[in-house]
Amino acid sequence: MSADCGDSKVTLVICGGGNGAHAWSGIASSQPNTEVRVLTLFRDEAQRWSDSLQKGDFTVSFYQNGEKCSELKTKPSLVTNDPAKAIPGSDVIAFVLPAFAHEQYLHAIKPFMEPGMILVGLPGQAGFEFQPKAILGDLSNQITLVNYESLPWATRLNEFGKSCDVLGTKNAMMGALKIGSATPKQDPYTVVQRLIGEKPVLTTKGHLLTVTMMSVNAYIHTSIVYDKWAEWDGKPLDEKPAFYHAISQDGATLLCNASEEVLSLTQDIMQHSPGTDLSGTIHILDWYKKCYAPEIEDASTLYTALRTCKVYNGLTHPMTKTADGKWVPDFTNRYTTEDVMFGLTVIRGIAEIVGMATPKIDKILTWTQEKLGKKYLVDGKLQGEDVKETRAPQRYGLTSLQELIDI
Ligand code: NAI
Repeated sequence: MSADCGDSKVTLVICGGGNGAHAWSGIASSQPNTEVRVLTLFRDEAQRWSDSLQKGDFTVSFYQNGEKCSELKTKPSLVTNDPAKAIPGSDVIAFVLPAFAHEQYLHAIKPFMEPGMILVGLPGQAGFEFQPKAILGDLSNQITLVNYESLPWATRLNEFGKSCDVLGTKNAMMGALKIGSATPKQDPYTVVQRLIGEKPVLTTKGHLLTVTMMSVNAYIHTSIVYDKWAEWDGKPLDEKPAFYHAISQDGATLLCNASEEVLSLTQDIMQHSPGTDLSGTIHILDWYKKCYAPEIEDASTLYTALRTCKVYNGLTHPMTKTADGKWVPDFTNRYTTEDVMFGLTVIRGIAEIVGMATPKIDKILTWTQEKLGKKYLVDGKLQGEDVKETRAPQRYGLTSLQELIDI
């Protein structure tokens, strides 16, 4: 392991071409002794981004309270769709893209990966730890895996390949890791901090399952969607309803109960396997206080915290416009797709292996899968035909707690 990660050169490959990839490519390129390459396999993104860099500046603008406060004009050294150009010689490979695309990237980078490389999910989302073994085989044990609970920034692309805005930067973020059998090419506890700068302050410790448990959108978003639409009478609405701010007391209780099931699950795992550190798993109300304390007017209960959290101002349920200008819910968005396939099914699958009942999670999942026309939970088990498109451990043939821990 590098003794002084601050001085040695780091080569980072950012996989993805969206908002987060844009922001980090500028931010990481501005760190000392850092080479940044971007690998994007999506359509013609690599060509367009590369062309744009050749023509002019690449700007990342930072905002505070809606006001622009600073900007960076540093560029990645390479943007390519060719893993043979991006991966060899790199230290850190980071997935900064929606979880459904991870599989494609793992297949693409596999031939060029070497023992000791560090694969980072920023964020990796739930089940990030199960996929590499299935695709990389033995190599997955020789690389180091690190997963973070979210993206450090709220960020939006401005002009593709040219500029993006960082609207907010988190104060703190949690991550977990599994060190590979080959010595990591950089210190995996600190290298991502070095590549993102001072904020958010990263705590990187514990078993990777912690981040799966704390992939909170899996239960926040799905509880809110259930709360709003499970009893809906089918009549189109005049306006798009607020997403977080319109949660009902029953919805907040459901989310609270789902979070308690996740906590019980982690406590059960730690009881059966005392060496497994899942201590980063916390109750959803504590998570809100940790992440958004200054933005929440009333954090006395989960219900009030969600309804008074200012970062959620203006956010509405994803809706589709009807011919007569009214609104009906759109269940094909990421709150019901990604957050189920790379979220709720993963947690439910772990619970099934551990032998823990999760009635509230089951209630949400059963209703959501029906809306999606999918079959995940069948006869109380995660055995439906669509489990193969999720990252639930069942998809990878994992059947025991020991296998989950050893992954
Ligand atoms: P994004 O929505 O900007 O990602 C789009 C990119 O994903 C595309 O540019 C393309 O490179 C890739 N992509 C899209 N469809 C693809 C396909 N069919 N095949 C292959 N690649 C495809 O994502 P963003 O905003 O950069 O977020 C990355 C991750 O960070 C996501 O998991 C997101 O939930 C999470 N996140 C994002 C935040 C933000 O402010 N942008 C905040 C917190 C979390």
